[in-house]
Amino acid sequence: MNLHIIPRPIYLTRHGESVYNTQDRVGGDCELSKRGELYAKKLKEFFKKEQEKEKFKDVKIFTSTLKRAMSTANEIDLGVKPLYLKMLDEINTGLCDGMTYEEIQEIYPFEYNERSFDKLRYRYPRGESYMDVIQRIEPIIFEIERQRVPVIVVAHNAVVRCLYTYFTQYEIENIPHLEVPLHNVIKLTPETYHCSEIR
Ligand code: G3H
Repeated sequence: MNLHIIPRPIYLTRHGESVYNTQDRVGGDCELSKRGELYAKKLKEFFKKEQEKEKFKDVKIFTSTLKRAMSTANEIDLGVKPLYLKMLDEINTGLCDGMTYEEIQEIYPFEYNERSFDKLRYRYPRGESYMDVIQRIEPIIFEIERQRVPVIVVAHNAVVRCLYTYFTQYEIENIPHLEVPLHNVIKLTPETYHCSEIR
């Protein structure tokens, strides 16, 4: 929407690698792995350097209410506490929570096929679809847009995919297939008609 034209970076990152990431499991609320903890520490150094480079005093940090995201965001030491928002939680995998993709395919083959057929609109039983996540994060998009100071978002794969797509005007159909690797920071700077991007 470009609510205002004051240039300020928006940093998007997933949480550090979690124990479930190492097992290829979806959902849950587990802790960071050792590598994930190391990423959180590196993030702290990275943002110290960014602060010097971008010369900002104030900053907003938004994260989810899940342990892996909170532990990552809590390491960022820029003099402000993160805001923990349920709306930034990972896509709710409902019945499949805590399962590996192989287990889902074996135990719920119908669900697995339905999701492969239309990953954007598929809703996990008792959980969410990407379309649901897009709706859920709308208020945080307004919040990010209206900020005049840099914003750091530490969230999850599905959520970062949706936020990234909003700011880069990428095709909605591609959202569930976007590559958002762990241990990467995406720096977007809104300009007149688009966002410049550095990873
Ligand atoms: O379920 C959690 C994953 O990080 C989202 O990945 O939508 O590609 O399965 P997926």
